[in-house]
Amino acid sequence: MSALTNDQIEELITQSLEARNFSYSPYSKFRVGAALRTTDGKIYQGCNVENASYGGAICAERTAFVKAVSEGHLRFVALAVSCDFNHYITPCGICRQFMNEFGKNLEIFFVNDDRTYKRSVLTDLLPYAFGPEDLPSK
Ligand code: THU
Repeated sequence: MSALTNDQIEELITQSLEARNFSYSPYSKFRVGAALRTTDGKIYQGCNVENASYGGAICAERTAFVKAVSEGHLRFVALAVSCDFNHYITPCGICRQFMNEFGKNLEIFFVNDDRTYKRSVLTDLLPYAFGPEDLPSK
């Protein structure tokens, strides 16, 4: 059961599909878009940004998070991610760890390009995660 209304889910889907348009992916030719909703209702879009040194690529999900965090947002409710073919894309392992920093209950929508989606929660994608709470408190 989502914390979002159907309209809010549809809006997040629209924005993740739209975010693919700015994908910089000359090497993989795999365009990915993401849309991240903050607890105060703002939506940040992100796309994958590749690099000639292939390991320097940044996924769409992390782009969206970095944009939001760098503008002062630390609390998020949901993320939608999409690619541009008939597939329910799921976040890579590095993104799962990166997102876990900001809360394990994040809802994640894997969006197909026909707008159908599957829903999950970060804690189910990254069980037994290592996170900030595992570090000794100061
Ligand atoms: N990619 C993402 O942006 N998000 C994912 O969830 C999986 C993979 C990107 C990284 C790279 O630019 C391309 O897709 C192929 O792996």
